[in-house]
Amino acid sequence: MNSWVETLDGTLDQIWQMLGRGTADRRAAARHPVLATISESGPETRILVLRKASRSANTLTLYTDAATPKVAELTADPRCALHIWDAKAQVQLRFRATATMAPGSKQIWDGMPKGAREVYGVTPAPGTPIETAEAFVREPDYAKFLELTLSLREIDYTNLGTTPHRRAQYTNADGEWRGQWVAP
Ligand SMILES: Cc1cc2nc3c(=O)[nH]c(=O)nc-3n(C[C@H](O)[C@H](O)[C@H](O)COP(=O)(O)O)c2cc1C
Repeated sequence: MNSWVETLDGTLDQIWQMLGRGTADRRAAARHPVLATISESGPETRILVLRKASRSANTLTLYTDAATPKVAELTADPRCALHIWDAKAQVQLRFRATATMAPGSKQIWDGMPKGAREVYGVTPAPGTPIETAEAFVREPDYAKFLELTLSLREIDYTNLGTTPHRRAQYTNADGEWRGQWVAP
């Protein structure tokens, strides 16, 4: 067992290390978290790319198209959850967070290849029924480039790679994480 998962502080270090790897390594498990929101019809889930992880601010950053349903859902109710399964580490991470939205950075937009920019600017809007599979157009639209910031409130960590399994929960109180081992 890695010595860092023997303590609550060491486990929190492991969590932020996994998140950091997700922002830097396309093959890292934390690169593709599942974001859950609350819609009028019930819970919704989808994958997004993890762009930034700030331990000092306790935030995670993702990008999305302003016209997607998740944006309307988060506007109506900013409470959301994020899920990561790292099969190699045998670790599941579950986060409860509150989302805020802001226009994406113009500098990042200008540095994106056209193919990446086209994701932001699909007509008709994502999720709209269309006559055939390719009956839509993609035109980069900076106005659709939205940055989602998740302020983390709670973390649930489960490690199946240890014997016995380990599970810890952390609550954010004014920027400080309070950890607690719980039965797995
Ligand atoms: C591997 C993968 C990465 C994705 N990355 C993003 C992303 O970074 N941002 C995003 O808005 N959608 C991303 N998507 C698409 C979403 O999963 C989803 O289909 C789309 O955003 C519409 O979601 P919504 O209808 O719930 O708003 C990705 C999908 C996959 C399979």
